Amino acid sequence: MVMDDLRIGLIGGGFIGRVHSIAFRMLQGAFAERAQGVSLKVLAEKDAQTAERAAARLGIHEWMGNWRELAERMDLELVIVALPNYLHKDVVLELIGRGKNVLCEKPLAMNAKDARQLFDAAQKARIKHGVNFNYRKTPAVLLVKSWIENGDLGSPLFFRSSFSQDWALDKGRPLDWHFQQRYAGSGALGDIGTHVIDMARFLVGEITSVVGSLSTHTKERAVTGFDDAARVPRDLEHGGTRLGTVDVDDTSSVLLRFRNGAQGSMLASRVAQGRKNHLEFELYGTEGSVLFDWERPNEVYLSSTRGTTAQSGFSRILVGGLGHPYGASLCPVAGMGTGFEEPFAIQLLEMIEAIRNDGDMSPSFYDGWRANQVVDAVLASAAAGKWCQVEQ
Ligand SMILES: NC(=O)c1ccc[n+]([C@@H]2O[C@H](COP(=O)([O-])OP(=O)(O)OC[C@H]3O[C@@H](n4cnc5c(N)ncnc54)[C@H](O)[C@@H]3O)[C@@H](O)[C@H]2O)c1
Repeated sequence: MVMDDLRIGLIGGGFIGRVHSIAFRMLQGAFAERAQGVSLKVLAEKDAQTAERAAARLGIHEWMGNWRELAERMDLELVIVALPNYLHKDVVLELIGRGKNVLCEKPLAMNAKDARQLFDAAQKARIKHGVNFNYRKTPAVLLVKSWIENGDLGSPLFFRSSFSQDWALDKGRPLDWHFQQRYAGSGALGDIGTHVIDMARFLVGEITSVVGSLSTHTKERAVTGFDDAARVPRDLEHGGTRLGTVDVDDTSSVLLRFRNGAQGSMLASRVAQGRKNHLEFELYGTEGSVLFDWERPNEVYLSSTRGTTAQSGFSRILVGGLGHPYGASLCPVAGMGTGFEEPFAIQLLEMIEAIRNDGDMSPSFYDGWRANQVVDAVLASAAAGKWCQVEQ
């Protein structure tokens, strides 16, 4: 029998905390040998009652109503932070201070200054640190990355991407933490735009300057039904009468310039009627181009000048199978497909292996800090109405 020797704590059992708990179980199945001895030991929530309920929902046996108690636990080697953005900094600093390895949700921090503080503290403490930019671990995206590294696309010329959802069109949704600058940092830009920023950095390279435009569709929302920013919206009744101000963006559009000379554009919106979780990108290089659409996560379109036959337009590549990234463990037959949780399981596996083999995790707090820098530059650009440099 294998003893559990790498115990994980989870802080935050809301929407994404649940995905992490499912991904842990997927890890145990898909990567059984590599993940031997790993256990998801304990959940911390904002109070005992919420913790007990969330632990039952997530299938975690131990729970506590105070994250500091979890941070004090000597038996945990890795802690996943799945809290609203404004809590990341204090919690992560405490965990680092106690020598814990940390996988933190995105955006890493409320701004680049705080993110840099977390990165520096993690480096100094020599802990392993990761940020959950899960989309870059999508097998299709990893396949694209391997083509780029092989030189199959040539030099990047331009990148165009959008991430659209429609849940913020619901005017009855209360003023939860997503809609307040002091709890979220920014709106669609930091929430889903950071996934696009990370994808752009991952596939193209560092972003050096931006010009952005932000807008807010619903400017006021009900503040009744909850007493702080720590809420689970699905539990709330809509229709309160007291209104508070939404001071973050519903939509952000941005032009990008990359250090390597490529250019790009991105859009992030939570008010795109009909779009649920629509992340898509196009990357055009001197030798080849790719198209990817998260609503069809198991395929990628490639146009290449390197093929043996003359090609007009794009070919559809079905992702999976033994030759593709993580195909053998997650998707041995291409047509079977992967979904939302698989990239989280890959991320967790890589984090565990970084801890066990004393390797580097990627994406790390460095990448979290870089993404926060781009967000800050877009906010500054939108306020000033001009191009802004991304601080290097
Ligand atoms: N990677 C992704 O695809 C993705 C998707 C959604 C959210 N996120 C990120 O995950 C984080 C959490 O988002 P969410 O959608 O799960 O939010 P959520 O509001 O659904 O869940 C947050 C949870 O944190 C708990 N909480 C609040 N204060 C706490 C405290 N002091 N101590 C312990 N628990 C506390 C809440 O009770 C709630 O259960 C955010 O940073 C968000 O940006 C990432």
